[in-house]
Amino acid sequence: MVRKLPIAIKSSWKFTYFMCGIVGYIGKQKAAPLILEGLKRLEYRGYDSAGIAVFQDGSFDIAKKVGRVSALEKEVPRYRLVGTCGMGHTRWATHGSITDANAHPHLSYDGKVALTHNGVIENYASIKKFLITKGHTFRSETDTEVLCNLIAYHYAKQAGLAGENRFVTAVRKSLHHTQGTYGIVAMNVDAPGELVTARKGSPLVFGIGEGESLVASDVSAIVSRTQNVVYLKNGEIAHLTLKNFSITTLDADEVSPVIDRVCWSIVSAELGAYHHFMEKEIFEQPAALKNTMRGRFSEDGSTALFGGLNVTANEFSGIERLMFCACGTALHACLVTEHLIESFARIPVECDYASEFRYRNAPLARNTLFFVMSQSGETIDTLAAMREAKRKGYRVLAINNVVGSSIAREADGGIYQHVGPEIGVASTKAFTSQLLLGAMLALYLARMRDMSFGSGVRYVEALKGAPDLVRKVLEQAPHIKKIAQRFAHSTDMLFLGRMSLFHIALEGALKLKETSYLHAEGYPAAEMKHGPIALISETCPSVFFAPAGEIFNKIVSSMQEIKARRGPIIAILSEGGELPPGLADEVIIIPECHEAVLPIVASVPVQLLSYYIAAERGCDIDKPRNLAKSVTVE
Ligand code: M6R
Repeated sequence: MVRKLPIAIKSSWKFTYFMCGIVGYIGKQKAAPLILEGLKRLEYRGYDSAGIAVFQDGSFDIAKKVGRVSALEKEVPRYRLVGTCGMGHTRWATHGSITDANAHPHLSYDGKVALTHNGVIENYASIKKFLITKGHTFRSETDTEVLCNLIAYHYAKQAGLAGENRFVTAVRKSLHHTQGTYGIVAMNVDAPGELVTARKGSPLVFGIGEGESLVASDVSAIVSRTQNVVYLKNGEIAHLTLKNFSITTLDADEVSPVIDRVCWSIVSAELGAYHHFMEKEIFEQPAALKNTMRGRFSEDGSTALFGGLNVTANEFSGIERLMFCACGTALHACLVTEHLIESFARIPVECDYASEFRYRNAPLARNTLFFVMSQSGETIDTLAAMREAKRKGYRVLAINNVVGSSIAREADGGIYQHVGPEIGVASTKAFTSQLLLGAMLALYLARMRDMSFGSGVRYVEALKGAPDLVRKVLEQAPHIKKIAQRFAHSTDMLFLGRMSLFHIALEGALKLKETSYLHAEGYPAAEMKHGPIALISETCPSVFFAPAGEIFNKIVSSMQEIKARRGPIIAILSEGGELPPGLADEVIIIPECHEAVLPIVASVPVQLLSYYIAAERGCDIDKPRNLAKSVTVE
């Protein structure tokens, strides 16, 4: 059955990330400029090549180009591309090298079907063999072209079926034969003005505008045209026409759609006065931290509250162990969380790379509560680790930014970060928000055990003060920029810290590597002399976290060891902290703060340092080479 608009509108905001970006359009406007605009917003998902297909005069006009969407845009005037129905793709290569031929959209050998795809078709080789026996020919090395031809094959076989049913049935039959993940938009030459879209694993959302419909990998590509959107679920196929749409499952059962209202506007996904999203997101942190905390403290101000955990206080107090899994920056947030939970709540915590946990068959104690952390909620290793833990019978909770992500949907409960869209590939505001939630979780667990009311109140007050402390560090941006300019052309850089700040050292090194391609390592400050000290030279500065506290003097000793070997030192000190004269080449001051807030505050200088070093080195900060915002393939 075809559903006419409008249908009940539910209010929420959602934002989804994945590798490769897809945009489709049907309406009355020329499709190409709108698709290009959408692709630019999705470039953070992959930027190896881009392409666009527009239906016009009974066939598809397709332009494809290796490189950024801007390279494709330059190519577009060579084509007519005047039709009002089309689709585009920005690619992060999986199957097949980075060439124009491998760029999407792909066209079936008979020119009947055009396809864009995000994901991996695992059994493409056997399907390709079969199709070759049926006379299909291929122009690329991609799994997508194979799927495109499979749809064409089934389409040819459905010749008896009428119009729309025939194409949707062909897509459905083809997807039944595919193993792997996909988010697809397909067009058929016999049905101009129609798009068929389906997903399994890779996210897709379609928007219902005034006399037009759009489909994309995430809402940032369509929110400038409409805020009424439908998030397609795994195993669903949507058929969009100019006037209506229908959703069915892979088994052809009808689905009642829910139209969501996106509550953030395009402004949150735009740069404004900033040069890069990374810069914007670093400076958004005071507001992001406030949003993460909002409504999450008890009335007496002594503990944290979490609405969506689906674990009773009673169940929580019986938990004997916690396990955290994540990847990249999110894993660093887990490591800090481990430190805080163990130190304040005295519960043993284990952290693991999600990619390792999923295969290493770790024994877990029975009353272990399992957490995953993920900004995007789509990272494949984190998702797999979570499924593995669930398979073993554990309850899994998620700390996640993207509402409605795969991880959020599959978790037994969780905590949303509420920091809005994070677009820069280098995670910044999502990281400090995860640190904050980790600190709040430590408080919540500690208050169920031995932490006193008074200590709880002081802890809450400290967390509430975090946004202002972060703001104070941000005021030092011009000073940090100068330090960055001084050291931007170093050969290596070490980040050294102890306790919770060892994990911030790991994060500092990761941030610098990914944004500036400068070799960096994070190490426990005292461990440095067991190996990395061999790197020390005049061109290898060390960033030391040296906050006030009981181990300050120990850290100063480590600095002396570096200085004795002519290594430059950038010291991050608490207000009032003093070093022997001449020991540090540069000093960055952070406000003195509670142990639970320190990792948040200490993260900001290294985020700024990485950002400004990358800028000085002329790097592509928001889209570093070889990376994508969310890693959804193994
Ligand atoms: O979306 P997720 O938090 O699951 O992503 C995990 C990592 O891929 C991510 O943090 C990555 O390390 C970032 N590029 C770091 O800035």
